[in-house]
Amino acid sequence: SLKEPLKVMISGAPSSGKGTQCELIVKKFGLVHVSTGDLLRAEVSAGSEIGGKAKEYMENGLLVPDEIVTKILKSRLSQQDVRENGWLLDGYPRNLSQAQSLENMKIRPDICLMLDVPDDILIERCIGRRMDPVTGKIYHLKYFPPEMAEIYDRLIARPDDTEDKVKSRLETYKKNVEAISKTYMDVLHKIDGNHPRDMVFRQIESLLQVQSDKLETRTSDG
Ligand code: AP5
Repeated sequence: SLKEPLKVMISGAPSSGKGTQCELIVKKFGLVHVSTGDLLRAEVSAGSEIGGKAKEYMENGLLVPDEIVTKILKSRLSQQDVRENGWLLDGYPRNLSQAQSLENMKIRPDICLMLDVPDDILIERCIGRRMDPVTGKIYHLKYFPPEMAEIYDRLIARPDDTEDKVKSRLETYKKNVEAISKTYMDVLHKIDGNHPRDMVFRQIESLLQVQSDKLETRTSDG
């Protein structure tokens, strides 16, 4: 196609709604969702060597060592679907060294969305989060309960979603957030994530639409 693919980065504290918004963004803009958390969880359930190394860190709410995460991210970003359709990068970079790895590889987003949600709300969202192991869909016991009792009965919680682990994940996030916002200062947009899902998405949607129109104009201008 004539159009250059859009490249979007989404960042925000644990449970700020990144995965939830990514699902809506993918539906509307057709980007490839690349979530390092999802990639790592897939390695853990597959019982791979990488998964074996990552498991303990993840279950304890600690960052997985940079070289492991950067390696799987690099291999995912080099695949055909990403190059054709553009990417939506979720959960990476998480610190200065990861941001520098991307800069060194000349991988830059057209726009970086940063979801902003107060601490007490984040904790409530994390603790109530459940996943459907059959479809991979994310629910919340209070905000997005499943439609059917059958789904409700099979929901599982993530081992890192206990209150104390959420608090330590949040601290790690706060320690590193400035490195991220400085690196992407020129393309950064803060989003108020403390609203219902669809209201948050409307803010994101209009920002991405502007960005996508810009790329289209740039490409057709030559
Ligand atoms: P990762 O999977 O990236 O976890 P996270 O950043 O902690 O983010 P979450 O998945 O917890 O939250 P989210 O923002 O996607 O929220 P969601 O939409 O689900 O990483 C997990 C682990 O992997 C890390 O701890 C680390 O060990 C490792 N890892 C990953 N990347 C790494 C990296 N780059 N380097 C090193 N290690 C790495 O929403 C949360 C809940 O709230 C849901 O129940 C949802 O239904 C609900 N909700 C969402 N939006 C709303 C709304 N607007 N109103 C009400 N409820 C809402």
